Amino acid sequence: MIEGGVRLKGEVTLSGAKNAVLPILAATLLTDEPCVIKGVPNLRDTNTMLKILRALGKNAELNKGIVTALPNKHISYIADYKLVSTMRASFCVLGPLLGKLKKAKVSLPGGCVIGIRPVDLHLKGFKALGAKINIESGYVIAKAPRLKGNHMYLGGTYGSSVLATDNVMMAATLAQGVTVIESAACEPEVVDLAEFLIKMGAKIKGHGTPIIEIEGVKYLHGAGHTIIPDRIEAGTLMVAALITKGDILIKNVSFQHLGALIDKLEEAGAWISRTDGSVHIRFKKRLKPINLTTLPYPGFPTDMQAQMMSLMTVTPGISVITEKIYPDRFMHVAELNRMGAHIQREGPHAIVEGIRGLSGAPVMASDLRASACLVLAGLVARGKTEVSRIYHLERGYENLEAKLEALGAKIWREKE
Ligand code: EPU
Repeated sequence: MIEGGVRLKGEVTLSGAKNAVLPILAATLLTDEPCVIKGVPNLRDTNTMLKILRALGKNAELNKGIVTALPNKHISYIADYKLVSTMRASFCVLGPLLGKLKKAKVSLPGGCVIGIRPVDLHLKGFKALGAKINIESGYVIAKAPRLKGNHMYLGGTYGSSVLATDNVMMAATLAQGVTVIESAACEPEVVDLAEFLIKMGAKIKGHGTPIIEIEGVKYLHGAGHTIIPDRIEAGTLMVAALITKGDILIKNVSFQHLGALIDKLEEAGAWISRTDGSVHIRFKKRLKPINLTTLPYPGFPTDMQAQMMSLMTVTPGISVITEKIYPDRFMHVAELNRMGAHIQREGPHAIVEGIRGLSGAPVMASDLRASACLVLAGLVARGKTEVSRIYHLERGYENLEAKLEALGAKIWREKE
């Protein structure tokens, strides 16, 4: 429940990045030695990944932001449908299992509300490493008595793929010879995974660029690592500041990961300044309409599209949002319109005609970022907004409600 109309003010600290921690936890399967991962956000998705690791035989627990993953007794090569179907990112256990055990049987994750989300690029990469792939009864069965490094192109219709790059990079760390991934994803979360793998003894170059080179090694050892701050949480809180015409200092920020976002927020009317590891954002004078297109990193992130749409609904003028990663990621449009917004969807475009104010309403979250978008809309709407199905929010935001409350928001939880 949110009672809108409060200008947010104060300081807030970011949690570790969800999309970095999930593949990094999966990467602990590559070693028989202990790993210690710090800055781990306590999220539903993190806990799902830990459950999967435990089901595979890895002893991994989260305690006060630290995951300790202890030596494997016996690691199973089978990741079950029941667990994989609850979270797509669990498919990235396939790469480490294949690398370590030279075989894996992992359930296909299926589609989700933001689109069909195929895994063809993952499979193309594994095949290039010499794996035989069969799909049987909804499972991918991958076998490769010998994984061999290879040169491969992993670009797809919508550009690079984050988890396909992660998955193939992890398998390639234990392949024989050199692997070159062309059209690799450049997202900071891929870089964080590569940094962790390097600490484990992997030989990786070029991460953060579209060409990654991995020289296979025989053995990976245990390692410690601290997860990078969540840039999407940063963006969500920055929009919270701007939409409420507030003034927020966000701590534990990697400023260099926020280029496209800061550019658009400044264009929309934010004053943003960078101080030691923090970002200060405040509303300047007037909100201005903007056009934005989501693209792979360093372009504008699709994971911030819904939240920016909330901002545009109360920005006078016409804004156009073009979604180039998931052309169907628009489930939030109808919900925002229930709050009085004027948004028209045309294919991969949403045309937003800004209005003076939204009015609070009961709305339903359809996915993680759509739920954040509805919470943001609620912060500025007249009256009460009731967002249901907020378990989506808990998949990817650590204590968002407490963080917003500490900034002055009138937000509370009622039993669904
Ligand atoms: N794609 C293919 N074939 C593939 C893989 C992807 O065609 O084999 C397409 C997808 O359908 C999509 C595009 O390529 O159109 C990019 O998808 P990508 O594979 O990069 O997405 P992902 O790796 O499955 C990660 C994040 C998503 C984020 C996307 C894009 C994780 C755990 N998830 O997903 O995060 O939207 O990259 O940046 O890293 C979120 O946090 O809310 C979220 C959905």
